[in-house]
Amino acid sequence: KQGVFTYDPAFTATCSCTSDITFIDGENGILMYRGYPVDQLAEKSSFLEVCYLLLNGELPNAPEMDEFRDAITHHTMLNESLVKFYDGFHYDAHPMAMLTGIVGSLSAFYHDTTDVNNPEHREIFARRMIAKMPTIAAAAYKHSIGQPKIGPKNHLDYASNFLRMCFAVPAEEYEIDPVAAKALDVLFILHADHEQNASTSTVRMAGSTGANPYAAISTGIAALWGPAHGGANEAVLNMLSQIGDVSQVGKYVEKAKDKDDPFRLMGFGHRVYKNFDPRATIIRGYCHEILEHFGMQNNKLFELALELERIALEDDYFIERKLYPNVDFYSGIIYQALGIPINMFTPMFAIARTVGWAAHWSEMMADPGMRIARPRQVYTGYELRDYINIDKR
Ligand code: SDX
Repeated sequence: KQGVFTYDPAFTATCSCTSDITFIDGENGILMYRGYPVDQLAEKSSFLEVCYLLLNGELPNAPEMDEFRDAITHHTMLNESLVKFYDGFHYDAHPMAMLTGIVGSLSAFYHDTTDVNNPEHREIFARRMIAKMPTIAAAAYKHSIGQPKIGPKNHLDYASNFLRMCFAVPAEEYEIDPVAAKALDVLFILHADHEQNASTSTVRMAGSTGANPYAAISTGIAALWGPAHGGANEAVLNMLSQIGDVSQVGKYVEKAKDKDDPFRLMGFGHRVYKNFDPRATIIRGYCHEILEHFGMQNNKLFELALELERIALEDDYFIERKLYPNVDFYSGIIYQALGIPINMFTPMFAIARTVGWAAHWSEMMADPGMRIARPRQVYTGYELRDYINIDKR
């Protein structure tokens, strides 16, 4: 049944909206997409099936899944004039900068998604965005390494297509590793949506003005880039490399507790989870399997991460503040094992979260009672005063 959850009025007073899409119980570490627990979806579903679920509210039957998969498959290519936009970026531009610019420029291309009040326009927008994000991200990676961009292949699944667009080169055949593709598909499922996080709220805020949906998605990419949000997955790997050795973990845990020290344990803490982030638990378990598959059992950074978690979770500072590893703490270990460079970790998050952004935008725009977002403030400035001419100042 829907809508059976009851809330403390003090909590609902803090809420910016209602939504049927995702449920988080931060105290008990529960995450559900349309009522289905994320651990079951990670184990039994596929990212594209989860996309259908998040967008439509129900799991698809076989004909619905075939139609959806076919629609996504036939929207994966980029307009050649859009591909030229990459040439405007310096080779060392951060891929998230390219994603923000390229996705925003999609708003100049399509006229079959301009009527945000038309359900058909909303559906084609969501499908096109989900389909194109891997191609856009892979092209950004190719641009950053000076290699020719590789287009999508329609016979490949979503994750395999992305891996091939990143790592294939014209000079050689590229062989898909099914274990790598499955691991990526699971990570995409785990990152697909997370109710009103900063980037999703940003997309809703921008979309509430009636703005072009592609432009609204580009605001979500910008928000996700921050190290306090999706940028944390990149920051975790840089932090682990900075710590360098298990012997240094205690020193950095103490630094993270020092209010005068800007150092924070990246990948730790969460505004909502005051218990384990269920996604972190699943990803940590997957690390063992993936590292073994790639013969990286003694991965130094993973050992560092495990030791960091062990020490922090025994420390009163972290226990009192209910600081646990979040989704970003272990994900980079798997991305790195798959050969994905650190500066592409947050684009991975963006690829997955595109469906969450699109689902929340669509849900909001379908609401006849939707009004422009307009947060208020507590004013702490001057009281009324008269202008003083510069010769009197
Ligand atoms: C994501 O919202 C979402 O759902 C996001 C996300 C999603 O799927 O969309 O889950 C994805 O963004 C996960 C979070 C990734 N960010 C990081 O890992 C960056 C490191 N974490 C922190 O910056 C922080 O924990 C946040 C940003 C995640 C949460 O910030 P809050 O809720 O504002 O927590 P806070 O800053 O108020 O911290 C409470 C206390 C403070 O100490 P006191 O002032 O009470 O003494 O805990 C401390 C903080 O100093 N603290 C940390 C810490 N995180 C919080 N101390 C050391 N290391 C940390 N990581």
